[in-house]
Amino acid sequence: MAPGGNGTEIGCESCHGAGSVHVKKGGGAGSIVNPRTSPETCFKCHQDKRGEFSLPSTHPVLAGKMSCADCHSPHAGDMVAEGGTNFGGINSTCLKCHTSQGGPYVFEHEAAREGCVTCHSPHGSVNAKMLKARNQNLCLQCHFQQQTAPGVILIGGRDHSSFLTRGTCWSAGCHEAVHGSHVSSSLRF
Ligand code: HEC
Ligand code: HEC
Ligand code: HEC
Ligand code: HEC
Ligand code: HEC
Ligand code: HEC
Repeated sequence: MAPGGNGTEIGCESCHGAGSVHVKKGGGAGSIVNPRTSPETCFKCHQDKRGEFSLPSTHPVLAGKMSCADCHSPHAGDMVAEGGTNFGGINSTCLKCHTSQGGPYVFEHEAAREGCVTCHSPHGSVNAKMLKARNQNLCLQCHFQQQTAPGVILIGGRDHSSFLTRGTCWSAGCHEAVHGSHVSSSLRF
């Protein structure tokens, strides 16, 4: 039996196919399902994931270029392989492939500590780059805005009312270095 999360146990056959087929074919290659090669095994029970991986911005799992097992260890241990999605863990799951987002940076963005999934939905999103929100709401999860007077919108102690009309926080020539910066404490460049 293998852990199915939250204490549930799932038999080998629900992912690897019937053992009787394996035995009948004399244990030959191809007589056992290898779930790494297709997500269909996982969709049997996790039907909602097919929809998430069909969204406009997603990891190429349905295209067969990636597997659920690239991020999940199906047999044991943490749900997310290699123990995390934050910048801190050297072997963290996302940084295996996305090395450039890991720094080290001269000016770290503390948002990193909370992990990549505070801003990205790794299964897919309607927004470009799998972002959880396509506008400043992504950043306002943590950086609160305050209206102190009519037409004045403070973020981080500075009036941002004229900036917010120019684009997103990271595309308007302001905080492009959302993952961390080598040159600016305010995450420019
Ligand atoms: C939740 C689905 C799931 C269950 C349940 C499951 N497996 Fe697997 N198994 C996988 C996936 C996915 C892989 C491919 C992992 C990879 O390539 O990283 C795999 C790979 C394997 C491999 C090949 C390992 C290797 O490193 O090449 C063996 C052997 C195996 N499983 C045996 C079992 C046995 C025995 C059970 C029951 C005790 C079991 N599995 C239950 C999903 C599952
Ligand atoms: C026979 C049904 C079944 C199959 C097949 C199956 N799962 Fe699950 N899985 C479950 C159940 C039940 C849970 C626990 C309830 C939940 O969180 O949805 C679970 C939970 C999970 C979780 C969350 C674990 C946690 O700690 O919260 C992940 C990740 C997961 N499965 C990945 C996979 C992957 C990847 C595959 C394909 C290799 C797979 N599952 C195949 C039934 C299944
Ligand atoms: C790019 C990495 C990545 C891939 C590929 C991936 N996952 Fe996940 N998955 C995650 C992360 C990270 C979480 C935890 C999300 C969080 O904490 O917000 C997660 C959470 C889950 C969960 C539990 C929470 C939930 O959303 O229900 C399940 C079940 C799951 N994944 C199944 C799958 C299946 C099935 C596949 C393949 C079809 C898959 N995942 C492919 C990274 C991935
Ligand atoms: C096994 C390698 C692998 C892992 C692990 C992985 N990714 Fe990816 N990621 C890819 C590939 C491949 C693409 C698609 C690149 C493309 O389409 O050009 C991608 C694309 C992306 C993109 C969109 C890039 C763009 O330009 O649109 C984001 C954001 C992303 N991944 C975040 C994550 C996060 C967050 C995690 C961890 C939960 C993660 N990735 C784990 C391989 C991986
Ligand atoms: C504070 C929010 C936030 C966090 C946390 C975050 N990202 Fe991003 N990420 C973004 C934004 C915003 C973009 C889009 C940048 C753009 O379009 O110029 C992006 C883009 C990306 C891209 C596409 C390539 C690029 O630079 O345009 C990848 C890959 C990526 N992120 C991976 C990760 C990984 C891996 C982590 C965790 C180590 C992570 N991100 C954490 C906000 C974040
Ligand atoms: C998970 C929470 C979180 C998210 C989401 C987040 N940040 Fe941050 N950010 C922080 C923390 C904590 C700090 C350090 C303390 C501070 O300066 O408020 C910080 C610092 C900053 C700074 C440096 C401020 C200075 O001192 O000069 C900028 C700029 C910034 N963030 C921009 C962004 C942008 C742009 C986004 C959206 C793409 C974003 N943040 C999303 C938590 C977050």
